[in-house]
Amino acid sequence: MSYKIPGKFRSSAWFGHDTHDNFVHRSWMRNQGMPDDQFDGRPIIGICNTFSELNPCHAHFRDLCEHVKKGVYESGGVPLEFPVISLGEAIIRPTAMIYRNLMSMDVEEMIRANPIDGVVLLAGCDKNVPASLMGAASCNIPTILVSGGPMLNGKYRDRDLGSGTDVWRYSEERKAGLISKEEYSKIEAGMNRSAGNCNTMGTASTMGCMVESLGMGLPQNAAVPAVDANRKIISRMAGRRIVEMVKEDLKPSDILTKEAFINAIRVNAAIGGSTNAAIHFKAIAGRIGVDLDLEDWNKYGTDVPTILNLMPSGKYLMEDFYYAGGLPAIIRILGEHDLLIKDCITVNGSTIWENNKNAEIFNDEVIKSFDKPLLDKGGLAILKGNLCPDGAVIKPSAASAHLMKHTGKAVVFTNIEDYLERINDPELDIDENSVMVMQNCGPIGYPGMAEVGNMGLPPKILKKGITDMVRISDARMSGTAYGTVVLHITPEADIGGPLALVKNGDMIELDVNKRSLNLLVDESELDKRRKQWKPAPKDHLGGYQKLYVERVLQADQGCDFDFLVGCRGADVPRPSH
Ligand code: FES
Repeated sequence: MSYKIPGKFRSSAWFGHDTHDNFVHRSWMRNQGMPDDQFDGRPIIGICNTFSELNPCHAHFRDLCEHVKKGVYESGGVPLEFPVISLGEAIIRPTAMIYRNLMSMDVEEMIRANPIDGVVLLAGCDKNVPASLMGAASCNIPTILVSGGPMLNGKYRDRDLGSGTDVWRYSEERKAGLISKEEYSKIEAGMNRSAGNCNTMGTASTMGCMVESLGMGLPQNAAVPAVDANRKIISRMAGRRIVEMVKEDLKPSDILTKEAFINAIRVNAAIGGSTNAAIHFKAIAGRIGVDLDLEDWNKYGTDVPTILNLMPSGKYLMEDFYYAGGLPAIIRILGEHDLLIKDCITVNGSTIWENNKNAEIFNDEVIKSFDKPLLDKGGLAILKGNLCPDGAVIKPSAASAHLMKHTGKAVVFTNIEDYLERINDPELDIDENSVMVMQNCGPIGYPGMAEVGNMGLPPKILKKGITDMVRISDARMSGTAYGTVVLHITPEADIGGPLALVKNGDMIELDVNKRSLNLLVDESELDKRRKQWKPAPKDHLGGYQKLYVERVLQADQGCDFDFLVGCRGADVPRPSH
């Protein structure tokens, strides 16, 4: 039975009938000062606000939310703000990733359970964006995502500081004794100068660009700084537009098509986006029912040059990107070189090409030309081989050219604790040609697949002036990090993947051009090791962590829970009174 009034919006099930239940719903909402006309059938817009004082990247979200509300009222809708879990990437332990699926469930169920006809998602810091989109995609009601935007450029003396990227850089320099404690502390104080997410092309900015290139955000959503007045305008325009989207019934399933994901894969290559995109794209696609394969990254992204000169692949920061033209300029360049599927519809009702075809470029040092790019081939590379039968990921634009083809002896760390315990030991048997291997940091092994894959180099190697080595693991890496780092090895070690069988001294061969990663050990020896391998006990895990390890999918499947994949829609739940 349907509780909704035919021809009316979803919220009519709560407010549109002359029943006891509807009396209760209206009466309680009136205690917030809502007059009669708020229940006359106009669209009710949920604003999913991830503000939290434990998430510094979202410090300005109360303000942005007020601007969304203004826009909703201006278009004749009724805005209702609601909170959900908020994941502060830099604060949460052991890793925000373990809570991404939990947050997505919160978003999904709060949309479905409430009288909401359309939703504006406010999200910025890494996992909040995919989590919100995953939840909203599962419900498939009209949705716009407003990103929080990047923070201003970090500053130390006359230097710009990039979040994350310079943390890694100066931490290594501090470890090598190249900078003093006082200098290190001043750098720390200059790193984060305003609200907003990381200002490098880390995962948060990558996700902001993903939202815009998928068509789920308004033009310029990705790069406008968090504290720029234009961010308020985008919020207000999103508020106006979502009301129209409800009337047009323009839903995520109309926007999040396979073609839109292909555009986003190409944009990710052009901007030098984070390796985490491979996981989050798959999870979002899975929720809306789009068949996105890991191989699609090789198929559609490989030949796209990186044209954005931003840390960690390049030099500049997100604030510079906005002044140079922002993501519209990148999309325009891709469109002019036949690397954009132009008729994909976006939240404003226009196609991605209509939105971006006239974008201007104001600084060709930041946004390079297609013919003189930062890097000829910028896409993520998906590796296969006997060490990663279901795939592994490397970001060539953040790696060292001389290590793209490399064979070296494995130095194995069985987990992150083992690594931390031994990495500073001057007796550690390792040199710059070794391959650092970390096991048991995948989705189940860690659990939550922490961003520990870019293992810092041993001090004795750093002191020689060496800054990069081949590192491989089943972990993830912060989008702000760099190096020749192979990640997301699938299947992971904790479920008996070949990574679990690697021993010290084994030879490992990486060939990024051939997209291969192999363990050069006889199959008979591997068989012997496989028979001796035992899974680690999980009895110590309880509650959500237990659910997580029992139901999480591997990295090539987006690390979603198996029971969340697919779109369940937002049929109106039955009444409770
Ligand atoms: Fe929030 Fe980097 S810590 S985006």
